Amino acid sequence: MKSNNFPIGIFDSGVGGTSIWKEITALLPSENTIYLSDSKNAPYGEKSAQEIIDLSIKNTEFLLQQNCKLIVVACNTATTNAIKILRNKYTVPFIGIEPAIKPAALQTKTNTIGILATKGTLNSELFEKTSSTINKEIIVKETIGKGLVELIEGGKLHSKKMTNLLTSYLQPMMAEKVDSLVLGCTHYPYLIPQIKEIVGNKLQIIDSGQAVAKQTKNILEANNLLNKSVSSGKHQLYINKDKSVLELLVSSKNVNVKIAEKYF
Ligand code: SIN
Repeated sequence: MKSNNFPIGIFDSGVGGTSIWKEITALLPSENTIYLSDSKNAPYGEKSAQEIIDLSIKNTEFLLQQNCKLIVVACNTATTNAIKILRNKYTVPFIGIEPAIKPAALQTKTNTIGILATKGTLNSELFEKTSSTINKEIIVKETIGKGLVELIEGGKLHSKKMTNLLTSYLQPMMAEKVDSLVLGCTHYPYLIPQIKEIVGNKLQIIDSGQAVAKQTKNILEANNLLNKSVSSGKHQLYINKDKSVLELLVSSKNVNVKIAEKYF
């Protein structure tokens, strides 16, 4: 039996899932949270499906040991490769992050959408299944964002290398008349300003953060697990590598954040 004031557990291959954590804590300010950044093993996107599953199980076990009442897999690569297994193995509800390919397909005017994601996400069965459900007339330009997660994890968000890499991924999409860009990795919302600098307003950028926060609220409600407290939630963030980038990314959030390094 899970108690309502138990925390929501959130994990990612690294610091990028804090883009989701921010949306959840904004929508559900009374909820306590535990965030796990497995930065030591980032990026997941270049690993085998079995490695991603094993790491996802390890992360889940860590969160369950701390009584998490619901787990958000704040990583597209882990969701697309492991969420089915996690849901079969454990009884807590799991929320996953799938690339927002359906909303992009609904709003494109050029019938051409772009998706920037990891190799692990784009090669997954779940991604394949989702892509096959959209209108057949829509052209999907898939691009592997190789190297982007490593630069973000290394705190090089505003580097020349980042601009060059992003330009090399975005220019071919622009040439192919892509008008909607799906950010298929939870690290990428941190690159929106840099992307806008390159493409201006020519691309509609779509990320799933707010939709995931709403889904988290709905599932908590449906399971009678919402925290009814009127005070602000407490937030514990764990990282198994240098914590400076995590600190940088969450510092603007006015919440009680405690960052620890005692995770495996
Ligand atoms: C990665 O670890 O390669 C990216 C995480 C994600 O897909 O959100």
